[in-house]
Amino acid sequence: MKKILRVLAATAVLASASFAADYTIKMSHVVSAATPKGQAADFFAKRVGELTGGKVEVAVFPNAQLYNDNAVMKALKIGNVHIAVPSFSKFTSLVPAMQLFDLPFLFRDRAHLHAVLDSEVGQILKDQVTAKGFVALDYWDAGFKHFSSSKKPVINPEDAAGQKFRIMSSKVLEAQMKAVNGSVQVLPFSEVYSALQQGVVDGAENPLSNFATKKFNEVQSSLTLSEHGYLGYLVIMSEKFWSKFPDEYKGKVLQAMKEATAFERNLAAEEDAKLLAQMQEYAKSTGKMKIYTLTPEQKAAWAKIMEGIYPQFYETIGEDLIKKAQAVK
Ligand code: LMR
Repeated sequence: MKKILRVLAATAVLASASFAADYTIKMSHVVSAATPKGQAADFFAKRVGELTGGKVEVAVFPNAQLYNDNAVMKALKIGNVHIAVPSFSKFTSLVPAMQLFDLPFLFRDRAHLHAVLDSEVGQILKDQVTAKGFVALDYWDAGFKHFSSSKKPVINPEDAAGQKFRIMSSKVLEAQMKAVNGSVQVLPFSEVYSALQQGVVDGAENPLSNFATKKFNEVQSSLTLSEHGYLGYLVIMSEKFWSKFPDEYKGKVLQAMKEATAFERNLAAEEDAKLLAQMQEYAKSTGKMKIYTLTPEQKAAWAKIMEGIYPQFYETIGEDLIKKAQAVK
């Protein structure tokens, strides 16, 4: 019996060895695997496996397991990781014009945002990333950001005064908070929960997917559906890795990415509605967090102040690019 088991075990090892992939693509991101970005990364991995008959595998590392925010850029450069999905703000030092996407109240709605991403504006920015030695693939969505706080509900612009907000590393986000007299602290995403819990910062701005999957509701007493800005991603690949990757599989990887992008964008829109219901249920059943919706007048008051920062970025982002994005139908 023991011998039979040993033979079976050896056969299993051989079988798995014969199915082993010839190439592994390491993909890193910083959010939960349950977010639209996380699910799309897993979907991409599955499709690459299917399309290449298992010859190429994608190993996905979520939750900043491999690299934190900006560190991933260097890792891609030297080929230690092959694909990353950084949010736009994480490109600030590499391609400052990417801060276009951080501009508050720039996008009228999701349709406008997608039209901008798929327009000349999206291409110009991808070209700038490519020029820095990366392969710019596709734009993925997170969603519109909302303010949250544990100190005081952020409903009118003056409520931000005297509160400290975690922001991503972006001059636009810094200026946006300064415009409403809020103070800021730049932190990597993986440190946001504990910073909120320990009161290092009072509040933050997040799309619902990041807010709910990291359970920020446990450490915030108010959430305002402010939709004051947008969070999205550019999927990028290591040029060093891609230039040596076998041609026979390149088309298949790109095909899988195209499918993953469509999957991700649909999912992000669907999840937003579901997570809002989930947060509303949490708020109601626990009474530990209040959710605020802004009136059109309140929203207009935020927009008026925050849009006032645009001219400060005419040089870094390009006045022309900002105007082009605004003009996209
Ligand atoms: C953040 O740092 O808040 C986001 O960029 C995290 C992410 O990747 O969605």
